[in-house]
Amino acid sequence: MRLLDAAYDQRYFSNFGTLATRLADRMAAVYLAPGYQGVLCSSNTAGLTAVLQALDVAGRKVALPDFTFAATPQAVFAAGATPVVCDIDPQTWELSPESLRAAFEAHSDIAAVIHVRPFGLIRDISGVRTVCAEYERPLLIDAAAGLGAPKDGAGFGSAFGEIEVFSLHATKVFAVGEGGFIAAPASMIQKIRAAMNFGFNPDRTYGEGQNAKFDEFRAAIGLAMLGKMDAIVPKRQAHAAFYDELFAALGGFGTAQDPGPTPWSTYPVVFEQPVTATTLGAFADNGIEIKKYYWPGVRRGYVGGREMHAVDLTQSLAMQDRCACFPVYSDFSSDMGSQLRERVFRTLSS
Ligand SMILES: Cc1ncc(COP(=O)(O)O)c(C=O)c1O
Repeated sequence: MRLLDAAYDQRYFSNFGTLATRLADRMAAVYLAPGYQGVLCSSNTAGLTAVLQALDVAGRKVALPDFTFAATPQAVFAAGATPVVCDIDPQTWELSPESLRAAFEAHSDIAAVIHVRPFGLIRDISGVRTVCAEYERPLLIDAAAGLGAPKDGAGFGSAFGEIEVFSLHATKVFAVGEGGFIAAPASMIQKIRAAMNFGFNPDRTYGEGQNAKFDEFRAAIGLAMLGKMDAIVPKRQAHAAFYDELFAALGGFGTAQDPGPTPWSTYPVVFEQPVTATTLGAFADNGIEIKKYYWPGVRRGYVGGREMHAVDLTQSLAMQDRCACFPVYSDFSSDMGSQLRERVFRTLSS
């Protein structure tokens, strides 16, 4: 409430206000690479759409991985483009550079690429960057669950100029309720802000755009949240380390390799068999809520009437039914770990 004083003093509550600007600048200082700036937006989905609008993709195609949440292809549709769905690398669960190359070869009108950081895992993305550089196309990263742990030394962003979008939804670690954060090279910021503000030009003519602005109430929550991240993230990392040990000891489960500085909004596990309603029910009966993400993938999940293209999706189709996420808590303790271990053993032996 105290953080809102500036908004009440000025009687100014939205449209890139003092608090939203202060929060974006502070987040940029903590999380972004030099030369990058941050803009807050109403959701990750709206942020992805605004960036695609700023990149002028309407009427052309956008490549993206099959293994992602509904919001990724929906942002492409909202920006007036057609998705080209690509396969993932079975080791990282991320967009495969080879599959992306196959998409470029099959579709000469791909205007941009969206790479997804599944579950907010922060990996090296140089393979995809190289393919985008080769075909001279911009790279947008959907890192919905990736914000919270400072990125060791470097920060998000690179000399390549990729644009990265994060979710601040209540289910994420840096949570304000509904919101998103766009990290972009300083030269792109004005175009993105315009797309978030109905596409208005200075003379009030307008192009592609929407309302994706972030109000001062959410900015105040974000300023409070920023102050808590240093306490929250290590607890979540400890919880993930606990799961690493547990699943390694159990054997037969795939877990995230090279997770990087992820804040662990959730802990993904790949089972040997498909995760069915019976599996979910067995864990629920023992007090653990596990959720299937990103299931079904884009190709099987989208049942609307818009045009969509896909290349070979063998790897995504082979793993998406077997993946489920375990809860990660910011108040993780060794007592909680003992309880969880006992409940997981009980579920798997039933
Ligand atoms: C990969 C991915 N993209 C986009 C979103 C949507 O984010 P938001 O709810 O902020 O629009 C999610 C939400 O979980 C997601 O996992």
